[in-house]
Amino acid sequence: MYRNEFHRLLCLYGLSMKDESILQHIRNAVFELSVTGNTTLGLDAMLEKLLAELGRVHDLPVEQRCAIVLVNSHGKYFQVAQAGMESAWNASAFWQSPSFDKAVALPGGLVKTCQPDDPEIQNEKSQLFLLPLNEEDKHLGYLILFAPCSYQPLPAHVDFFMELAYAVSGFVQRAQAREIQQVYKHELEEAHAQAIQSLGIASEYRDTETGWHIMRMSNIALAIAKVLRLPANQMELLYVAAPMHDVGKIGIADEILLKRGKLTPDEFAIMKTHTSIGVSILSGSDPMMVAAREIAGAHHERWDGTGYPVGLAGEQIPMLARISAVADVFDALTSIRPYKQAWSIEEAARFIISESGKSFDPAVVCAFEVAMPEILRIRELYRDEIIDPNKHLTLPPLPQRANAWIKWKDDFRIGIDVIDAHHRYLFDLINDLFDVINHRHGSHEIAKLLKATVTYAKVHFRTEEKMMEHCGFEDLQRHEKQHQAFEAKARELYENLYTNPLVVQFNALFFLRDWLVHHICAEDIKLKSLVTA
Ligand SMILES: [Fe+2]
Ligand SMILES: [Fe+2]
Ligand SMILES: [Fe+2]
Repeated sequence: MYRNEFHRLLCLYGLSMKDESILQHIRNAVFELSVTGNTTLGLDAMLEKLLAELGRVHDLPVEQRCAIVLVNSHGKYFQVAQAGMESAWNASAFWQSPSFDKAVALPGGLVKTCQPDDPEIQNEKSQLFLLPLNEEDKHLGYLILFAPCSYQPLPAHVDFFMELAYAVSGFVQRAQAREIQQVYKHELEEAHAQAIQSLGIASEYRDTETGWHIMRMSNIALAIAKVLRLPANQMELLYVAAPMHDVGKIGIADEILLKRGKLTPDEFAIMKTHTSIGVSILSGSDPMMVAAREIAGAHHERWDGTGYPVGLAGEQIPMLARISAVADVFDALTSIRPYKQAWSIEEAARFIISESGKSFDPAVVCAFEVAMPEILRIRELYRDEIIDPNKHLTLPPLPQRANAWIKWKDDFRIGIDVIDAHHRYLFDLINDLFDVINHRHGSHEIAKLLKATVTYAKVHFRTEEKMMEHCGFEDLQRHEKQHQAFEAKARELYENLYTNPLVVQFNALFFLRDWLVHHICAEDIKLKSLVTA
């Protein structure tokens, strides 16, 4: 629509005379872009191509740098792609809407501003050309080009900018659509996984009355799998399917399942059938069901061939079941159950190691030992009991990750190990999110990580609130409200992924970082004095 408007303006101002060679360049550039737009190249790559094309247009003194900024639902701009200039991480603060306030409107919705408030480029006396990106009537953001302040665009250049804005708008829309598709794909997969997982959780509640066992067991299994360097898809299957290992217990009578004393040989024979019952419950041919069935069927098989139900030995036992067995036994031993006290971590680890080559695959046991710092952390992150803040935990130091986006500093420590461990884990999740965005892994991965971060934040909040209540934290309600406000904002961001994923990924990243750092330093820190008093 605005194109027609623009042509009307051109006629009105008598600007219909065009330089043929510039027109040719326009056609080339727009053609190049539309070809690029049909591939799966990202926005950065498209901008690189654009710069190359712009370099070929004579008499157009634009600089070899450009960026795309897109607007969120609150009118705030985020730099989502760039070429020849600093990435969003370094430039993000620059594109707040006030930067555009001093801008001058050109015909056809084009905007230019001569007063960039970035100190780095002020010396260069550049002006910015903001080419509006639209989807029909909806404003998406701008393509930003830079040119010397002395440059006055010729009418034909204005024409060129308009054509360009139109082509880039189309490209952004297509990129957006691709990302939205990925968010839906993630949602669908998650709904599927949740439906299966809820089966496992149901069986576990009946048995041990703790949902955390599931959470710990699948995370421990994943930590072992990471050391073993399992392929990514296998790790995902393991994480989702491991909680279903005991789903067959649904078919075991209460008198046996909940019996406090030792089972008689007959009762034990019945108890053993939970493996084959699990196999029959988990029918289906999709990869997740297959993995769940393998784990449920073989998690009591032993490496030496003396396990049940079949007596499989060594590598006949599926890998995911071998890993699940170690994770399950370790977590069960170190947890309190109605019929037993918890073993210490050391005792349980010694037992697992002593069973290497007997119950367990030696390679999995080795990986378990390597993963121990991570496993200890998982146990602290998902604890069953109310936390005693005075209990001094001996968590191994978490190694500082190389090139972390937000670095953990000692200033962030509030001096309670459990809470500090939670906070550091949240930092790690945010750094993972940064890596995924920075390496352009797409909205499927972004949605997954954003959800994981928010879920984990909730686990952390509930723990922290419990501890605050326990210590008589002043104005706990206010603190709880802050947590709730975070959850609401995070939910909003997640939902916006469905409509505006290109912007929301940056929006979410900056929000998570800023909120967390501020909240820890200004609010959580108050807990310290209560505990150390
Ligand atoms: Fe079992
Ligand atoms: Fe808090
Ligand atoms: Fe906190």
